[in-house]
Amino acid sequence: MDKSFSDNAYSTKIPKIAPSLLSADFCCLKSEIKSIHDAGGDLLHLDIMDGHFVPNLTFGLPVIEAIAKVSQIPLDAHLMVMNPDLYIEPLAKIGIKYLSFHQEVVHHSHRMIQKIKDFGMKAGIALNPGTPISTILDLLMDVDFVLIMSVNPGFGGQKFIKTSIKKVQFLNNFRKENQLKYEIEIDGGINAETIKPLIPAGIDIVVAGSYVFQSDDYQKAIRRLKNV
Ligand code: DX5
Ligand code: ZN
Repeated sequence: MDKSFSDNAYSTKIPKIAPSLLSADFCCLKSEIKSIHDAGGDLLHLDIMDGHFVPNLTFGLPVIEAIAKVSQIPLDAHLMVMNPDLYIEPLAKIGIKYLSFHQEVVHHSHRMIQKIKDFGMKAGIALNPGTPISTILDLLMDVDFVLIMSVNPGFGGQKFIKTSIKKVQFLNNFRKENQLKYEIEIDGGINAETIKPLIPAGIDIVVAGSYVFQSDDYQKAIRRLKNV
């Protein structure tokens, strides 16, 4: 075993790994998706951007529909768009399992959460690195998961922002104290080093884009993140 992983006795649980398709080879999506399945990915993370909330564009509904047809792994869609409401029904029909929207763009969050749940999906609230947890405290009893951004959204391959660790710790403690069941997801700048403090902090789902897709061996990269 890699030495850097032998000292991880404090680990409490193995998180789900959600490779982000943003860093895949877009010319070969079908085979990339199959490779992630074969490599042991638990969820497939889809970054949906509109060029307004973030300065980048990815894929829209026709491409997501094609992805859903070939993916054997549940889909985790992360909406980085100004009007997430427009996407709920079509994404539910496509078969998305986890759907998160950004706190920064929604005025009526409870309504959004309820709508996502009514369409049979797990509802998540996403927070930019600069947005404090205090802005979502009153939503925590309603959400199925919280997505903590550990980079400013829009691009893969950015540097992990460490203040996100405290957010994960807070959410884990708050969950215990209030006997809540939401999952905690982290997204951005994850690699075999940056994941380490997140395990004892209570992370449940780890998104990893460039770390997995830029590795020579996806299975090895995912195993390293799971520390097995
Ligand atoms: C950034 C996206 C991330 C991104 C992560 O806007 O939300 O999901 O794909 O990429 P890495 O793991 O390379 O930071
Ligand atoms: Zn994402």
